[in-house]
Formats: sequence, structure tokens, C-alpha cells
Amino acid sequence: MRAAGCVFAENEAELLIAAAPTASDLARLVDQRIAGLPLERVLGWAEFCGIRIAIDPGVFVPRRRSEFLVHQAAVVTQPGAVVVDMCCGSGAIGAALAAVRSIDLYAVDIDPAAVACARRNIHDHVYQGNLFGPLPGTLQGRVDVLVVNAPYVPTDEIAFMPPEARLYEAQVALDGGADGLNIQRRVVASAPLWLAPTGTLLIETSGRQAAHTADMISHAGLKPNVLSSDELDATVVTGIR
Ligand SMILES: C[S@@+](CC[C@H](N)C(=O)[O-])C[C@H]1O[C@@H](n2cnc3c(N)ncnc32)[C@H](O)[C@@H]1O
Repeated sequence: MRAAGCVFAENEAELLIAAAPTASDLARLVDQRIAGLPLERVLGWAEFCGIRIAIDPGVFVPRRRSEFLVHQAAVVTQPGAVVVDMCCGSGAIGAALAAVRSIDLYAVDIDPAAVACARRNIHDHVYQGNLFGPLPGTLQGRVDVLVVNAPYVPTDEIAFMPPEARLYEAQVALDGGADGLNIQRRVVASAPLWLAPTGTLLIETSGRQAAHTADMISHAGLKPNVLSSDELDATVVTGIR
């Protein structure tokens, strides 16, 4: 595996050995990995915030940097909070928050494969559809925590992403439009309608895009705050009334 370019060959080999019931299964898993299939796809799960998240083909693999979004969301999440995981993908963010806080969790994704995967990781309220469209109207004005890791890669930059993303994740999971902010813009514009009076919006973005994300939040009538983690190379912008 090292000869094939796997940087963490020993660690990965241990995971594959643990995942393979027989020697021939192990040979198949190693072949898949050497052929370039992302480790999480070979294993069928990713570790995120210390828990295992099931990952199905084509579904976005939760990134380590998004643990910062979960940590920041946990800070503002009270027991019993209504939480929406918007653009949930595998449901990793909501599931990780639910692992540390007792919450009433709702999750939405437009991609049927992501929704099916999220239903393996989150046991209630997973909806398929466009942003807020499928959520019950009764949640309007009642969302305590709106947590968002929407696509934010500018369309022209997708070609420069690592092959694990470019080749194995759905375009809809990556493509944020010309400036990368199309989906964020739409989420932020609707956020005030859904947030509870004391609710918090939290959006993952890039350091480069953070000022634009914060501007959008201001234009929507919310007060933005930019938070970042050098350790995780992560940026989150929050918005409150
Ligand atoms: C960058 S991935 C993040 C997934 C997940 N939040 C995570 O961090 O692992 C973005 C997700 O947004 C979903 N998505 C894109 N456009 C959407 C839309 N209009 N409505 C709902 N979900 C959307 C994609 O299908 C994808 O699963």
C-alpha cells in the first residue's frame, strides 16, 4: 500500500485487516484502496468527532475540519434544542452533535443517496429536498441551532480538488456555483424565517470566503461573528439576531 502511494499505509492496513472477515476479503479491500478508492469508501465508514459515520457511494466524506463546526454548535446547544443540519450529506454533523447533546434533530439534503446514508446515521427527521423546502412549516421561528456545511467550492476550482473528492463525491456535494457561495446565500437569506428568537446560525466556510459569508449574514439582518481554528484549518461564521 505504501508503494501505491498510501501515506498512512500502516494505519490504513490495520483498519482494512479489522474490516475483512477473510483473507480474500482483505485482498479485495487492499486492491480497491490501491486502485485509488478513498479509504472511507473501502471501509464504508468514516471516523468523525470520535464516532463512526456510515458512508455510502457518492456521499460526501465528512472532513476533519468540520469537527470545528460541531464544537462551535455544541457551545450554543442547550438540552432539548431544535437543531437543523442543513445540507446534511451523511448526517455526520447532526449525528456528532446528537452524540454530545440531547437534541431534537432535523436534517435535509437534496441528494437521495445522501438522504439514504443520513438515515443510517440519524434515526429521525431526515428529509429529502431543496434546502428548507421539505422541512415542516411548524419549525419556522423555532430552530435553535441551524448548522450548515453546504457546498462552497467555486465551480472552476473543483477540477483542482484531490481525486478522492473530484472522482468519488457527487458534484452537487462540492459545487457552490461561480463564487462558491450560491447555496450559502440561499440558506442565509431564509435563515431568519426559521431561527428562534435566540437561535444561532453556524456556517462552515473557507478563510478566504469568510468575509463574504459574514456580509451575507449581516444583509439578512443577523449579527455575524467569524471563528477560526488554525489546528483544524477551519472557519465558521455564526449569526444571531
Ligand atoms: C459539502 S457536502 C457536506 C455534507 C455534510 N454537511 C458534511 O459536512 O459531511 C454538501 C451537501 O449539500 C447537499 N446539497 C447541495 N445542494 C443542496 C440543496 N439545494 N438542498 C439541500 N442539500 C443540498 C449535497 O447533496 C451534499 O450532501
